[in-house]
Amino acid sequence: MTNITEIAPDTYRINTYVPEIDLGFSQFLVKDEEPLLFHTGGKALFPIVHEAVSKLIDPSTVRWVGFSHFEADECGSLNEWHQVAPNSTGVVSMVGKLVSVDDFAPKNPAKGMIDGEEFSTGKHTFRFLQTPHVPHNWEAGLLFDTTTGVLFSSDVLHQNGDVEPLTFDSVTERVKKTLIDFQAGPLAGYLPYAVETDATLRRVAAQKPTTVATMHGSVYTGDGERAILEYAEVLREVLGAASQAARI
Ligand SMILES: [Fe+2]
Ligand SMILES: [Fe+2]
Repeated sequence: MTNITEIAPDTYRINTYVPEIDLGFSQFLVKDEEPLLFHTGGKALFPIVHEAVSKLIDPSTVRWVGFSHFEADECGSLNEWHQVAPNSTGVVSMVGKLVSVDDFAPKNPAKGMIDGEEFSTGKHTFRFLQTPHVPHNWEAGLLFDTTTGVLFSSDVLHQNGDVEPLTFDSVTERVKKTLIDFQAGPLAGYLPYAVETDATLRRVAAQKPTTVATMHGSVYTGDGERAILEYAEVLREVLGAASQAARI
């Protein structure tokens, strides 16, 4: 079941819940002179996402396809988007562009971003944050809409379940339970906890987002700085050195 929710001005969440794995996948569309899609979803999801986008704009006008890291739910149908939207261009870290993305989707070479770099789509200005290994992978980055305060946070604030599209209540406890559940099952090791993890998340929190648009789970609107700092604490508790030592 796919639903569309406006989570901020011009900003739409397209979500498909997959009951077999109790997990939802969100893509975000920012309507602007140059429309931006953040996350494509995997190839299997492409017809669904394409149809949802077509309810909001002409899909052939998608100009930018942003994502955090090279993984199927982030960018699996990037080539399909290049086919239906001939002027579409990936927006990813320079590392992602050089290491994987231009090899995977050579038709339209990606825009390789460096930390702090900004670009405009018309009314909206986006700032790229290079966040190696947050949420995971060397090439990881996050995109912050400085116009609306929406942080496109990828797997940061991931919550399992068929949850509400948007919430004003803290999701910290749900995030913590999801991470603990993952650690106990076949998906253990989902996220790394590296020496730079805490500092990276503090840098993200300092953007003071008003909305944190996660790929999996409810979008959170409220004190985004606090939400990210609480997330950093959850990661430290569940994945940090003390808990790792306890498992040995
Ligand atoms: Fe991921
Ligand atoms: Fe994901």
